[in-house]
Amino acid sequence: MANPPKNIGNPMGANLRIADAAAIRDAARLLDDGALVAFPTETVYGVGADARNDRAVAAIFDAKGRPSFNPLIVHVANAQAAANHVILDGPARRIADAFWPGPLTMVLPRRVDSGLSLLVSAGLDTVAVRVPAAPVAHALLVVFGGPVAAPSANRSGRISPTRAAHVASELGHGVALILDDGPCTGGLESTIIAVSDGRVTLLRPGPITPEDIRHRTGLEVDIETGNSTANPTAPGQLESHYAPRAILRLNASHAGPDEALLGFGDVDDAALNLSPQGDLTEAAANLFAMLRLLDDAGHGKIAVTAIPESGLGLAINDRLRRAAAPRPQTPEQDQTP
Ligand code: TXA
Ligand code: MG
Repeated sequence: MANPPKNIGNPMGANLRIADAAAIRDAARLLDDGALVAFPTETVYGVGADARNDRAVAAIFDAKGRPSFNPLIVHVANAQAAANHVILDGPARRIADAFWPGPLTMVLPRRVDSGLSLLVSAGLDTVAVRVPAAPVAHALLVVFGGPVAAPSANRSGRISPTRAAHVASELGHGVALILDDGPCTGGLESTIIAVSDGRVTLLRPGPITPEDIRHRTGLEVDIETGNSTANPTAPGQLESHYAPRAILRLNASHAGPDEALLGFGDVDDAALNLSPQGDLTEAAANLFAMLRLLDDAGHGKIAVTAIPESGLGLAINDRLRRAAAPRPQTPEQDQTP
C-alpha cells in the first residue's frame, strides 16, 4: 500500500503535493493500487490511471464526467515502451524518432497482445500514444514502469488545466494525489495525428505543426476537416470543447460595453493580454489560465482580439473556436463549479 499522501493544504482539500522524488514514488504506488493521480506534462496537467487496469481506467471517465465514446491517450516513457502496445513501424517510427519525447500524440493500430484495457480505445482498434518530455511526467512513467492512460485533468468539455490548483478545482477529491510542478511550459494540448497505411492525418492541431512534421521527416500531413459529432475520432471534431463559462466573441477589434477584452499584441484596454509582444508561444502558455482568470473574475462575456492563423496560432485559434461554439446543455456541465 502507498503511504498516505501528505496534504500540503489547499482550499479544495485535494491531496496536492510538490512533485519531489518521494511524491513521485507515492504517485507510482497509487497507480499500482488502481488509484487516479494527476501530473504535469509539458502541455497540460493529465489525470492518469494504470492503462492495463479496467476499473482504474473506468474511474477516469467517472472523475471527468466524460462521454464514454471518447478514447484516452496512453502515456509511456519511450518509443520502445510504446511498441509494446501499438504497431510502431514505417512512417510512425520516423515521426517517433523525430518528435518523442514531446507534445505529439500518434493514433496507431493496437497490438492484439497490447495488454491495455479495452476502455482506453473506447471500442476502436487503435490507441493514441504519447511520450511526454516534462521531467515529472517522465519520472512518474519510469518509476511506475507501465502505461498510464491520461486525459487532460478537467471536467469533460471544460478548459484544460495548466496549474495544479486548476486540477484541484476541477477534480478535487476525485483524484488520490495531484503532483504539483508549477505552470505547464507549453499550455496547449498535444498535436494528435493518425498514422495508418503510410498516411499521416492531423486530428487535432497543437504545438507540433504539419510544417514541423514535413520539415523533419519529409512526410506530408493530411488535414482532417469537418465537425462530425456522430463519429468523434478526436476532440477537434467536437464542436464545443475547451469551454469557459463566459460567452466568447473572436477576432474583436475592441470590447463591447459588457465584455472583458483578452488581447494579443499591441492592444489598448485589454483586461488581460496573451502576449503584449505578439509572441505565439507565450500566448499558448497563457491561454487557458487567462480564460480561467476572466471566468473567475465573473465576466459573462469575453472578446478576444485576432490571433494570426500560422504556426502555433492554428492550434490557439482551434481552441478558441471550440470555446466560442454553441454548447450542448449536459448535466455534467451544469454542475461545473
Ligand atoms: O497534451 C495532451 O494530449 C494531454 C496531456 C495530459 O497528455 N492530454 C489530452 O487528453 O489532451 P484528452 O483526452 O483531453 O484528449 C485526447 C483525445 C481524446 O479526447 C480523443 O478524442 C483522442 O485524443 N483520441 C484518443 N484515442 C484515440 C484514438 N484511438 N483514435 C482517435 N482519437 C483518439
Ligand atoms: Mg481534454
